[in-house]
Amino acid sequence: MSIHSRLVGSGSYLPEKIVTNDDLAERVDTSDEWIAARTGIRQRRVAAENEYTSDMAYEAARRALDDAGVDAAEVDLIIVGTTTPDRTFPATAVQVQAKLELNGGAAFDLQAVCSGFIYGMSVADGLIKSGQSKTALVIGADTLSRLLDWDDRSTSVLFGDGAGAVVMTGVELENGLGTESGILSTHIHSDGRLAELLYCDGGPSTTGQSGFIRMQGKEVFKHAVTNLANVVTEALDENGLESSAIDWLVPHQANKRIIDSTTKKLGMDTDKVVLTVQDHANTSAASIPLALDAARRDGRIKKGDLILMEAMGGGLTWGAALVRW
Ligand code: COA
Repeated sequence: MSIHSRLVGSGSYLPEKIVTNDDLAERVDTSDEWIAARTGIRQRRVAAENEYTSDMAYEAARRALDDAGVDAAEVDLIIVGTTTPDRTFPATAVQVQAKLELNGGAAFDLQAVCSGFIYGMSVADGLIKSGQSKTALVIGADTLSRLLDWDDRSTSVLFGDGAGAVVMTGVELENGLGTESGILSTHIHSDGRLAELLYCDGGPSTTGQSGFIRMQGKEVFKHAVTNLANVVTEALDENGLESSAIDWLVPHQANKRIIDSTTKKLGMDTDKVVLTVQDHANTSAASIPLALDAARRDGRIKKGDLILMEAMGGGLTWGAALVRW
């Protein structure tokens, strides 16, 4: 008998306000053509002035619980992958816990930037397998619009706000996971030597305030394609699978060109890739659960499908998760 974790529901939330590429072109020297050709992005969502990461995280969590048919009272673990907490402390996760009117179990934030959701699933998977949690909410939520220098065209065109969530439950299986639905494996990595390639200046122990996103775009691009292809290969190899076995690749939605290059490197069919970056730009930790939820709700992802998720972000951090829905 072994315990495995299973994804039983998903939910997502995007703020109402849409900012198009043309809107940005009114402020900085850019164009819809340049942004779409270089990134695939057409628009992004921006949180309302009084809308915070915990509000979006709560909304996505609520929808995931409804989708799963799981009572919030059963949740004993909440992990929020975020780089943009409402406050320096306490964690956004405890704010979500309070909004859900829960007071048991554990709730904490996990900071792995755009890899936050994969990291969160990996940690929740470990806690479920060890018997420390039975029902977990893993949420990716970010309000990167608040970390942007809107006059810097090299970063302001790339990011947006949003949240996504999954409900994970533990199941005891007599003969291992086999072809049952659940997490086959997760893989997480980081390399702090590359921190200068993508970071936000400032912070509580330095300037006391958070600053703006700074990025060496070309270098990040190169590392992303290499690291993502490597970690996807690692996930496939560990499970003795070829890329042809994957029903859906749900990548971090940073940039269509990174996704296309990774897909090509892996020899995967582009029809099997879930792409939502055009609609909401790079929402950091929220992007994978946003894409996952979109593909589940429009009927593409079905029960029994094998899904490969992958992400890379500031740190650098990167990771992958292989899941049978
Ligand atoms: N609109 C118009 N022109 C722009 C621009 C914008 N928004 N941003 C930069 N440019 C200009 C540059 O100033 C440069 O002009 P120059 O040739 O006169 O100097 C030119 O476009 C090329 O800039 P460059 O930075 O070399 O472009 P690129 O082809 O590398 O594309 C990115 C830039 C950011 C789209 C690309 O590097 C990228 O996608 N990197 C990964 C970023 C990412 O996804 N980060 C998050 C990872 S989690």
